[in-house]
Order: sequence, then C-alpha cells, then structure tokens
Amino acid sequence: MDKLRIEGQHPLRGVVQASGAKNAALPAMAAALLTAEPVELRNVPQLMDVRTLRRLLGSLGAAVEQDGDTVRIDAREIGNVEASYDLVKTMRASVLVLGPLLARFGQARVSLPGGCAIGARPVDQHIKGLQALGADITVEQGYIVARTATSSGRLRGARIATDMVTVTGTENLMMAATLAEGETWIDNAAREPEVVDLARLLRAMGARISGDGTSQIRVVGVERLHGARHRVIPDRIEVGTFLCAALATRGDVTVTGADPGHQDALLDKLSEAGAQIETAADRIRLRADALAGGRPRAVSVRTTEYPGFATDMQAQFMAVNCIADGTARITETIFENRFMHVQELVRLGARIDIDGHSCIVQGMPRLSGASVMATDLRASAGLVVAGLAAEGTTLIDRIYHLDRGYDAIEVKLRGLGADIARVTGKGD
Ligand code: EPZ
Repeated sequence: MDKLRIEGQHPLRGVVQASGAKNAALPAMAAALLTAEPVELRNVPQLMDVRTLRRLLGSLGAAVEQDGDTVRIDAREIGNVEASYDLVKTMRASVLVLGPLLARFGQARVSLPGGCAIGARPVDQHIKGLQALGADITVEQGYIVARTATSSGRLRGARIATDMVTVTGTENLMMAATLAEGETWIDNAAREPEVVDLARLLRAMGARISGDGTSQIRVVGVERLHGARHRVIPDRIEVGTFLCAALATRGDVTVTGADPGHQDALLDKLSEAGAQIETAADRIRLRADALAGGRPRAVSVRTTEYPGFATDMQAQFMAVNCIADGTARITETIFENRFMHVQELVRLGARIDIDGHSCIVQGMPRLSGASVMATDLRASAGLVVAGLAAEGTTLIDRIYHLDRGYDAIEVKLRGLGADIARVTGKGD
C-alpha cells in the first residue's frame, strides 16, 4: 500500500496549476448518458474516481476515452442500465447515473451506494425527487430499481423540495428533469459551483434550465438533448488545500487556473488567520512569509452549504489551526462523522478535543512528525497539510484515499519546494 513520506517545515514557494474539479467532472460525465451524441469534456482531472466512472459508463455500453485532461463519451449504444455494486461501492457518486438513465431509457438499476467513513450518506432525497417526477422505485437486494410509471414512458415535470440541501441530489434531479414532460421546480437546491457548471453543460446540450446557483432551479423538459463540448471548472477544494498548505508552512504560493469567485468563505478565513491574499481572474496568491510571530492566528469556522465554508475544507483548515496562535472552534454541520482526522492530528502533537459536532483546537507552537493513517479523502489532505508543517518525518498510510481526489498531489507539492515522496509499501 502506497504511503507519503514528508519532511516538514519547508516553506512552500512558487506557482502551481489547479486541476479540474472532481465534483464537477463526475456529474458532467454522467450527463453524457442523456444524449446519443458525443460529449467532450476538457480540464477533467486524472483521478481514481474519474477512472472508476469511466469504467462504469463503459459497463453500460458507452464508448469512453480519455486523452490527458480531455474525456470523450459516446452514449449512443447503451445496452445495459444496471450500475453494479462492485463499481458503485468504490465510488458513491456513481449514483449520478440514476437520473440520466431513467430520463433517457425509462429504467435504471443502480446499486445503493454504501455509506463511507464520513457518514451514512443516504440517497433518500434522490429517490423521493425521482418518484415525484413519475418514477416507480423499489429497493431490491441492495439495488435501486427504477422505471418510469407514466403512460408516455417519460418522466413528467413536478415541483420538488428536498428535505435538506443535497449536491448530488440536486444534480441527479436536474439531469432527470431535462427530458421530462413539462416544467420542474427544484426548491432547496444546492448552490455549489459544481451544480452551476453542470447546468452550463446541460444548457450547451439543449436543456432549458434557469435558477442554477440559487436555491430554486427551474427546468422545462425537452424531447432530446444533443452533444456538446465543455470545459470543467477548477477544483476549488484542491486550490483551498494548496492555500492552507502555504499558510501552514509560512510560504508564498500562487495557484493558477483557479476561480477566486468560488472561494470567498475560505479566503475570508485565511485572511483572518493572517495570510495576505491577492486575487486575479484566474489565480490566487497567498503570502504568509511575513506572519507576525511566525504563526497564523487561530480562526473558528462552521461548515455549511455553499456559499458558506465548505465541509470539504474542514480538515485542511483544522490542520492550520493546529499550529496557530490561540484556540479555535471548528463545527461540522454537514456530515455526522467527519472528524476521523482528529486522532491522527493528535498523533502529530495537536491539542484537539471533540465536543459533539465541534472540535476545540488549541494551537501549538509546533507539531512533530509521526506515522499516521488516512481515513477518507479530505482527512488525508488535512494530514498532508499538517505533515508539511510538522518538524521531522511524517509517514501517511492508506493514501489511496488521497488519490481519489487529488491528481499527483506530491508532484505538485514538490514543485513548490516540499520534501515529499510516494513510498510504495510492501503488502501492509
Ligand atoms: C457532495 O456529496 C460531494 N461529492 C462531497 O464531496 C461533499 O462533501 C458534499 O457534496 C457536501 O458538499 C460530490 O459532489 C461527488 P450531499 P453528496 O448530498 O452530494 C445528507 C469529496 O470529498 N443527505 O450534499 O453526497 C447527507 O447525508 C466529497 O469530494 C441525505 O440525508 O453530499 C449529508 O449529511 C465528500 N439524503 C447532507 O445531506 C440524501 O438523499 C449533504 O449531503 C442526500 C444527502
């Protein structure tokens, strides 16, 4: 099993290019199932999860090829509408094929995605919304079995309000509604940039969608969609991870290919912690080489849906607070078990107490390198940030979690002066 070995305390300096957003690329790839014409996506990150979804689309009969950061999908010949457990269990975002398959073929059989380290991750809102659109859905032997229950065989537009804001739930329902008969309203919709990016692709394919980016999305169904070419937005979480690493190591880093407009909440918090932030249309520079007293200030955060502070940035920002001057409270409101990184950070010398959905982080002058274990994608990123700041050697195990969401992170960090290498473990 691969590990990452980090020799900490090297200030990160220089320029790094952001990759495309994993959480925009995945729904965009699923959207290609809505048409019999080719869809070309550019700026797609080369990640484990993208490879998994390529395999899944291939298993349905789509022709999928990736050339660098360009993915071409031709879903003309879909002969199978079943997304099997062995693929879905490795990536819960596979549930995003449910809406498109149902909308275009009138049926779908998608394995229930299991839970994961950060929570139960139910998909009841996806199911409830599709039923409102006229689908007959049962759960049989761990599979969601869905078929359109209308005389025309097509879904029919409806007014849907999800019980909570759900990103992939909004995306699944928006995709399904594009081919439904009539008008659909999605209330309590997610406002994430990745939802807006998907709506942009769907409009390029001929869908009639408005309100994306607000909590109320309107879709007027059309008979069919056509192919399109689309460039995926930058990965705001990868960008945020590099910015946290720059602050934690008192560096000076510019991230290019970024969209500062997606990062307001994070940039506010990084500035509050003492970082100097400069932004331009496609780049963000963070300077922390002149931090007063050499340490960031402790800053409390509360994760909420976009445009609030992203839950996917919680672990990385906690790592910064571990070496900050002062005490911070970090509250996680989205997932029920997203503090798996806390005990690993404590192994590095952090002082953190868990109090229900909050953590109290007492900043320490320094962390000391140790062996730690990754438990989920963004927890791993938090451990990387902490390892880069710690004195001595940090060895992070089970970094396959990291590879799901970061495109060769150690190569990019080495380019910024980090002393970091991938160590191939023998069997353990
Ligand atoms: C998306 O997951 C992201 N994944 C997650 O990123 C991200 O953490 C999350 O949104 C929140 O921003 C992708 O976009 C592929 P939700 P998603 O549905 O859509 C509950 C990463 O690190 N809920 O917005 O699965 C749910 O349990 C990943 O890249 C239901 O109860 O998240 C959670 O508490 C991790 N029933 C809350 O809503 C449902 O039917 C928000 O979940 C759906 C969700």
